[in-house]
Amino acid sequence: IYIGIDLGTSAVKLLAMDEKGVIQKVVTKEYPLYFPHPGWSEQNPADWYEQTMEGLKELISGIDASKVAGIGAGGQMHGLVALDEKDQVVRPAILWNDGRTGKQTDYLNKVVGKEQLSKYTANIAFAGFTAPKILWMKENEPELFAKTAKIMLPKDYINYRLSGAFCTDYSDASGMLLLDVEHKCWSKQMMEICGIRREQLPRLYESYEVVGTLKPELAAFLGLSPEVKLVAGAGDNAAAAVGTGTVGEGRCNISLGTSGTIFISSRNFRVDDNNALHSFDHADGYYHLMGCMLSAASCNKWWMDEILRTKDYAKEQEKIEKLGENHVFFLPYLMGERSPHNDPDARAMFVGMTMDTTREDMTQAVLEGVIFGLRDSLEVARKLGIQVERTKICGGGAKSPLWKKMTANILNMEVDVIETEEGPGYGGAILAAVGCGEFPDVEQAAGQLVKVVDTVKPEPELVAKYEEKYQQFRKYYPAVKELFR
Ligand code: XUL
Repeated sequence: IYIGIDLGTSAVKLLAMDEKGVIQKVVTKEYPLYFPHPGWSEQNPADWYEQTMEGLKELISGIDASKVAGIGAGGQMHGLVALDEKDQVVRPAILWNDGRTGKQTDYLNKVVGKEQLSKYTANIAFAGFTAPKILWMKENEPELFAKTAKIMLPKDYINYRLSGAFCTDYSDASGMLLLDVEHKCWSKQMMEICGIRREQLPRLYESYEVVGTLKPELAAFLGLSPEVKLVAGAGDNAAAAVGTGTVGEGRCNISLGTSGTIFISSRNFRVDDNNALHSFDHADGYYHLMGCMLSAASCNKWWMDEILRTKDYAKEQEKIEKLGENHVFFLPYLMGERSPHNDPDARAMFVGMTMDTTREDMTQAVLEGVIFGLRDSLEVARKLGIQVERTKICGGGAKSPLWKKMTANILNMEVDVIETEEGPGYGGAILAAVGCGEFPDVEQAAGQLVKVVDTVKPEPELVAKYEEKYQQFRKYYPAVKELFR
């Protein structure tokens, strides 16, 4: 049995998978997310750890604990976790969707220069990346910065607490803007620019490599063998891609989670001229390109929980029938936007209401606005000559049949539905299985374990209607962006 951990933004999800890929049990444990200022986003690493331990205990109580051989985690990317000499967290983690680093991002892109950054790391600076956060801390919290002995990413903190190994993997490290993605090593220039030393950064591994075993006292507490191996794991998007079989050349995965991503796997390293898409290492040992929007399923969650004040998301979608005919548009920038606008100041908007606009029209606009946002990133990939005609889909939003239908028609792609929506957790378990020698490599493991159970096909009439709507959607952001400053 292999345990997969998905350390997400709203919760940690844990699953147990047997060697045939069958999921035996899933456990979810939520934790709070803090927005101490508009555009800021933080979490307490202690909450991640405590809820992961709680989750592990519950997960293990329903399975044959003696059969557990390995653990692999996928985690929310880019978050800055800083520990002092005594391994105490020096401040709450600054997350991937935090927009406080506008000034530092501008410094990196304009003063250091995009060309230099791209040469050092294969990427330019985006507000959510780790390097601008390090610069922010150095400037705004110099005493905490001076105390920082170790810098790591969210899932690395869990691996560190569970095994004592100070490590990360190439896919997650790619999002720090400190890694030379092509050559898979820390960039000396970036360490210098950020004022950090090599010893402060974790040791690098491939995602499927074993980094250590469970600490004996934790193994005893959980009722597991101290021989249980931990693999390095991956950023949640790379882990999700493994979990949906998006490995090897030219495959695509869409994740509709708190964030929305479009992920294209590649055997070869490549960058687009404008660095609009992230060029990162993949958990299968190769590379990928990715567009990331900061608010995806979280737009719907905000609309349902905060505004409509309902928990019955499915019921709100039942009466939505007139696809491709909505006059209302929603700009999904509740946390600013990353891909492709790179604008932490962008804000969400509804546009186009009239006296006959209904609750359903507004809900529909929210769901459509998220997919139009993803289409913006897909357009960048298409301009690069990347032809993707089908995609896998995962994340909480993938549970909605309506949202999948919108995805197929707005993106004009066939959408393959996998047996499980638990992308990152399933991918984490697969990485653990590879690390424990159950499979020779990630591609073969995913090929054997991941099963497509359904395909949602685009319908030509709807595709045409949505094409017109998208052309209208894409005009709104450029028209209003100056108003957000
Ligand atoms: C990817 C990104 C998000 C987080 C969400 O670049 O920032 O998808 O990984 O957990």
